[in-house]
Amino acid sequence: MEVRGAGGAQSIAGATVIAAVMEGLEPVGGSEAFVESIDDRLLEVAEFTGKKGQSITLPHDDAAALLLVGLGEEATFDTLRQAAGSSIRKVKTEKAVSLLAGVDVEGATRAVTEGTILGAYQYREYKTDDGNGENKCSSVDLVGADPDAIEEAAIVCSAVIMARDWVNAPAKDLSPAAYADQIAAAAADVGVSADVWDLAKIQTEDLGALLGVAAGSDRDPRVVTLRHSPDGALTHLALVGKGITFDTGGLSLKTAASMEEMKDDMAGSAAVAAATLAIARLGIPVEVTCITPLTDNAVGGDATRPGDVLRPVQGPTIEVTNTDAEGRLILADGLGLARRYEPDLIVDVATLTGASHVALGDEIAAVFSSDPDLANQVLGAASRAGEEFWQMPLHEPYRKKLDSNIADQKNSPGYRYGSAIAAALFLAEYAGDGPWAHLDIAGPARDRETSGEHVKGGSGFGVRTLVELARSLAGS
Ligand code: BES
Ligand code: ZN
Ligand code: ZN
Repeated sequence: MEVRGAGGAQSIAGATVIAAVMEGLEPVGGSEAFVESIDDRLLEVAEFTGKKGQSITLPHDDAAALLLVGLGEEATFDTLRQAAGSSIRKVKTEKAVSLLAGVDVEGATRAVTEGTILGAYQYREYKTDDGNGENKCSSVDLVGADPDAIEEAAIVCSAVIMARDWVNAPAKDLSPAAYADQIAAAAADVGVSADVWDLAKIQTEDLGALLGVAAGSDRDPRVVTLRHSPDGALTHLALVGKGITFDTGGLSLKTAASMEEMKDDMAGSAAVAAATLAIARLGIPVEVTCITPLTDNAVGGDATRPGDVLRPVQGPTIEVTNTDAEGRLILADGLGLARRYEPDLIVDVATLTGASHVALGDEIAAVFSSDPDLANQVLGAASRAGEEFWQMPLHEPYRKKLDSNIADQKNSPGYRYGSAIAAALFLAEYAGDGPWAHLDIAGPARDRETSGEHVKGGSGFGVRTLVELARSLAGS
């Protein structure tokens, strides 16, 4: 999907014109002449009132069609993004002209570009047909848009799409090795340095927790490190992502139903890797070190057993009481590696707990932080990016649930209540003393329905927030 800036005098011949209307039938964006030209017709179509989510296609002048979308009572960047996303899927022509950017130009341009590109996304890698002309539209001219904002938003969207593609890929075809190669190739394309560790190197470096998870799989683990070190960077951000290429639960085996979606369990790694590449492409002056341990959590003969003890590269030893709490194990090593770089702050992203999904549902991620300012920075970045987060507490008294008889701590409290918090407290032991935030994206890593900019499947959740966080750290 290509989004282009367009001046006022736009040829609409053969194109679908997309325009938004607020509840109360007030058109948003577009020239005065356009508003006049549709004013009377809005009154003719009684079933369209401008309610959020409504849309209607009408004939219009030379255009192939006029597609009106309802914005509801407020024209915010979020409602514009959603309207752009849901309307693009209704366009039946190859070309469209969108009038949505004509309000609060820079922010609206971003929101509409994002909605358009992300809403048009389809994952067709394993489909044999061509989609029967579904999502036929391949280019949108945004009237009255800010061209720089289009370009920046398109870069962010290509990172979101990269993350979606990785999450949607079947685990069979995205082994840790294949995935690491794909990250490294994507990094090479944008001039970011990538270092991939194989099994031998991971053994030499003594990443005992990652090795413990990988022990049950015939596919070797990897660790990928990306480095973006621009001139003039004043802040060094470390990103750590959970990259479980498939989570069977290990010997503490999942049920069939809860295993079904577990190819998503590398969504945290996809978010941090793709965001790092976007931050580099945008030239944001922040140093970024992105570390993502990659492994299956499987059930081979040498799989880690409940009761085994693992030694992460740095920090407390771990009694594995439940092999399905594997994300925190590989993150213990990931955080330990991140600390070696002495970053100013660390943010980890993970599909870590079913409990955060239960608590916050499909659309909201949890943020935990050792530092109130960082928590607020993440929440601010998320709200500008149009992603939903809710802060949860690092409630120290729950830590005793992780006391182990034989090791420094255990990986699973064996108690459901508050277990997203227990997981975060576990990670805190490996995050060092500096500011650290943990983003548990177990709910929103996958979109369960198509709506607005969301398309059923891997969501690429977190990419937009991380890019926005980098922007705020750079003071831009
Ligand atoms: N990958 C899962 C968490 C998850 C669940 C992500 C649902 C997305 C949707 C994680 O590895 C896991 O299994 N966690 C366990 C931990 C428990 C054993 C302490 C959980 O949340 O049940
Ligand atoms: Zn698990
Ligand atoms: Zn997992």
